[in-house]
Amino acid sequence: MRLKQEADIRRLLQEKYNGRRTPEFNKDIIRLKKGEPLDYVIGWLPFLNCKIDLSLQPLIPRPETEYWTEKAIAVISAVGRRVKIADIFSGSGCIGIAVLKNAKNSQVDFFELDKKLIKQIKLNLQLNKIPVSRYRIIRGDATKKLKNQYDFILANPPYLATNRKAKVQASVLKYEPRQALFSGPDGLFYIKKILQLAQSRFRPKGQLWLEFDSFQRKSIEDLLKKFKYQKWNFYQDQYRRWRYVQI
Ligand SMILES: C[S@@+](CC[C@H](N)C(=O)[O-])C[C@H]1O[C@@H](n2cnc3c(N)ncnc32)[C@H](O)[C@@H]1O
Repeated sequence: MRLKQEADIRRLLQEKYNGRRTPEFNKDIIRLKKGEPLDYVIGWLPFLNCKIDLSLQPLIPRPETEYWTEKAIAVISAVGRRVKIADIFSGSGCIGIAVLKNAKNSQVDFFELDKKLIKQIKLNLQLNKIPVSRYRIIRGDATKKLKNQYDFILANPPYLATNRKAKVQASVLKYEPRQALFSGPDGLFYIKKILQLAQSRFRPKGQLWLEFDSFQRKSIEDLLKKFKYQKWNFYQDQYRRWRYVQI
């Protein structure tokens, strides 16, 4: 297994440098040996028929996010009319870009706090040849800037609990943006804010798809009752862990 992984890494790096062992190739080997995530070193990853560039070091899109985004795309595509979507907490832009690429009836507003990542989202939209007429990018706090109404709000907010930091992989803590990870002691700071806000930002029959950490399911259910939501379904991811809720 290890040998196979090493062969795959070698192949990916050879592709990046067109088979030549340049000084950059050697630098990449050193980055890997120091523990930097492979996806940053390779510089991009595939995400639902899209190429997601990671050169400005956004959160590395996770397979769990890809899993529920694919389900959301199926629902969005089936709507049968033009659909207005907000991808809040966009990071690399992977969720919204996958929707734009795979659901031709979609229009997406991206919301991201980090200035550098605004550039990253633009880069990824261009890389995937999304026409500018199909999106808007809004910089700032999503919980303040979300003013219009949407058919779908898609959210992968920071949701790690600072009091569970010891359980987070060392390379995640060392290399991935902290602002993308943590959300207060219980990880619910942003989730609470979104749930407070989302209902007033729905078009008729509007939906919120929200990713969370499996241990937060019960607290989220309590919040849904508290904020008087009508209908929701919790789902597991491909690893059988509670991962997202469709509201
Ligand atoms: C967990 S990452 C998700 C990134 C991407 N959507 C994905 O699924 O890979 C959360 C992102 O939200 C951004 N962020 C954090 N607080 C924010 C806020 N208040 N408003 C908008 N974006 C925020 C972070 O910079 C980060 O890029």
